[in-house]
Amino acid sequence: MSETNQPSKVDKHAVHTAGGARVGATILGAGMALPKTVLTNADLEKLMDTSDEWIRQRTGITQRRIAKRELGETTASLGTRALQAALDDAGMRPTDLDQIVVATITPDMPTPSAACQIAANLGAGNIAAFDLGAACSGFVFALNTVDALIRSGNARNVGVVGADIITRHVDYSDRGRGTSILFGDGAGAFVVTGSDDPDTGVLARAMHTDGSRWPDLFIPRADDDFPADFDHDGHGVDINCLHMNGRAVFKFAVSTFGDLIQETLDKVGLKPEDVDHYVCHQSNKRILDAARERFGLPEEKLHINIDRYGNTVAASVCLCFSELKAANRIKPGQLVMFLGFGAGLTWGSSLWRL
Ligand code: UT7
Repeated sequence: MSETNQPSKVDKHAVHTAGGARVGATILGAGMALPKTVLTNADLEKLMDTSDEWIRQRTGITQRRIAKRELGETTASLGTRALQAALDDAGMRPTDLDQIVVATITPDMPTPSAACQIAANLGAGNIAAFDLGAACSGFVFALNTVDALIRSGNARNVGVVGADIITRHVDYSDRGRGTSILFGDGAGAFVVTGSDDPDTGVLARAMHTDGSRWPDLFIPRADDDFPADFDHDGHGVDINCLHMNGRAVFKFAVSTFGDLIQETLDKVGLKPEDVDHYVCHQSNKRILDAARERFGLPEEKLHINIDRYGNTVAASVCLCFSELKAANRIKPGQLVMFLGFGAGLTWGSSLWRL
């Protein structure tokens, strides 16, 4: 991957001379990368007993992207393209980065991490690079982690990537129709840098887990990974396949999403209307509509793009923000609340002043 010719805006080494001064964090660039192949609801009708009408009514999705290895589309290659786009947006070079954090549950290999592969692809040099796994909450957890690393003086210019190829784990037969129709592949990335203004960056965060509910959403690698009472064939398609209790996760998501917004606002004494953008994990349009209605938010404050991409796991939050930024709807000083929830079960928020 070639480096951008644009001059770098940020001093990579400034962190080492910060001398304990308070610093803020800012999202300087954002980018995204999508697989070429579009999988429409009409395509799914040919694979399983479903209909375009059912999928649109129950989820709001009309199409999603699906990655193909034969086209060179891997988690690392999509993540690399997304981070290069974010660097271009920020006017920075890969060698300006001192860390890369990748939120993913589908690295191409158990090791090396997707972050190591992306660092190598970009020619980012000998920097800190690691993956963080919190499923659909992963990118939000990564943003909170990176803000803390920067504010504590342990990082300065960080590439934060959300990338997943979840369609490797879905079953496109009748048996998997309650799950497969939701998901798509993609990657998004931010470049987050230290800022001289300590009032920028995370104002409030929440990160939660209820590990006892892991059987609601899991990908087993072996027969004994299944919960004891789970009806499965023990072989073949059930292994390595995403299993979801859709109704249970739906109920959890509708209540949790609203509670999470309220919890985050309460931490800083803000009202729902004070926030300029709610950038949410795209799980199901009905879940997002419920949150919007509970707080009386206008449509333009809660961006929805699930119709085009489906649920892209760790990528969805950064795909949303990248689209808003590319459309010039993101302005300095605005308040943006990032929200995610998913397998684990995990859920979290990150409220930023830009
Ligand atoms: O990001 C990770 C977090 N995951 C989520 O947020 C997912 C949350 N859950 C959901 O989004 C929804 O539960 C689904 C979209 C997965 C399912 O929608 P639902 O309204 O909860 O449907 P359901 O599972 O209650 O099924 C209703 C009916 C059933 O038929 P019967 O039993 O009523 O005769 C299903 O068999 O719809 C049937 N059905 C389908 N019909 C056509 C299930 N999947 C399909 C399908 N096409 N693809």
